[in-house]
Amino acid sequence: MKKVITYGTFDMFHQGHYNIIKRAKEYGDYLIVGVTGDSYDVGRGKLSVHDSIATRINNVKNTGLADAIIVEEYLGQKISDIIKYDVDVFVIGDDWKGKFDHLKQYCEVVYLERTKNISSTQLREENFKHYNIGLIVDEPKDNQIIAEAQKVSGFKVSSVFSEDRKVLDEFQDKYDIENAYRNLDAFWKDTDIVFVKCHLDKRADYIEKCLKEGKHVIADPPFSLSAKEHARLFEIAKENHVALLDNVKMVYVRIFTQLLWMAHAGMIGDIIRFNCSISKRDRSIVNLFDDLTALALCPVIKIMGKDYQSIEPKVVQSEDGIEYASILLKYETGEASINIGNKIRVKEQLEIIGTEGTIRLKDNWWKSNYFELETIDGSDIKTYSMNFDGNGFCFLLSEMMTMLTNERTESMGLFPDESNTIVKVLEYIHQNV
Ligand code: CTP
Repeated sequence: MKKVITYGTFDMFHQGHYNIIKRAKEYGDYLIVGVTGDSYDVGRGKLSVHDSIATRINNVKNTGLADAIIVEEYLGQKISDIIKYDVDVFVIGDDWKGKFDHLKQYCEVVYLERTKNISSTQLREENFKHYNIGLIVDEPKDNQIIAEAQKVSGFKVSSVFSEDRKVLDEFQDKYDIENAYRNLDAFWKDTDIVFVKCHLDKRADYIEKCLKEGKHVIADPPFSLSAKEHARLFEIAKENHVALLDNVKMVYVRIFTQLLWMAHAGMIGDIIRFNCSISKRDRSIVNLFDDLTALALCPVIKIMGKDYQSIEPKVVQSEDGIEYASILLKYETGEASINIGNKIRVKEQLEIIGTEGTIRLKDNWWKSNYFELETIDGSDIKTYSMNFDGNGFCFLLSEMMTMLTNERTESMGLFPDESNTIVKVLEYIHQNV
């Protein structure tokens, strides 16, 4: 019996998919179709897939051509499958020409011509609502927002606004953005979602204007250093039925959800201590103390909760502002310590110490794709990981798409009251140093 195997995502099942499955079958007597699993797609940055794995498998099954359907769960699985199922021919569309030649040592490799003028990408574009993202910037840097938005179907960065003409021109040249504006009314006409990416002193003002204009907003935390003003922005978002999201990517990355689950499900016992440190990387940019502190407070509030009992800040200041801070938050059952190095450098790490184990994230913990778990029973340190390219902003956008689809305006990554708590701590620090 001659066995054939072919693979695909088979999202929004179309004629091209049917054709390749049918032609693959003609290469042998028994056809195995591999359908990509959700985790595999997320891991390789394919966040645009619309149909669930159940639907995609069902659609392949309904062709009546597959003798077996398997799920492709990881990079490199194709080799194991070919060996395991004793496959004779591997078939794939010629958009992959040459990419699978290394499989020739295991079986015959056939590239078939793609069916013209149809693809899942095209169907997703045609069938689903699209949102234009506009950026408000004060420097010609996009922090990978444009590239990350391309990974999630339904979003496109189409406009940029800046008060500064030089910044605007430079930004548009650098990123080849369709529309550039210095007039907010014109900017809003082209925009559904605004990313307010500017310095703290103007952030709240822009956020408020955008929300009142009925635009969904993403902005770096803190939105303001006044807890009252910060909370008011969430109220304005609610009144206008629009979403307001903190640009904290880590809470949307699967590895963090897993860590949170482990910490809260008691896998390291009772949490007694949380330590985290962060330093400013780019010395050329302005004082970043508030942005760094907000970022470090985010995992504190997610893991230790909002109900701290006291805050003890210790800071080193210069005429440029706070250069270093060590902040201790005391909770009923434990404490959280964060070290912020604005000019003074601190080693970046995050550690959650429990009565039965410790969770550690090293180096760039806010964009880490792995963490370690060490339990006190002396067993080996276990590593939990998930691969992803880029800075994780696509995962935030993916949550945004879920919110828009379900007409939900509050993010479940960082709830408004958690965001407000972060600013309350920041406000306290500024009032007490
Ligand atoms: N395929 C094809 N002709 C098309 C589209 C896809 O022959 N018009 C083939 C691909 O080459 C692959 C298989 O169908 O062998 C599954 O492709 P998949 O990536 O799931 O479909 P696409 O439509 O290419 O999806 P996307 O637009 O998301 O890349």
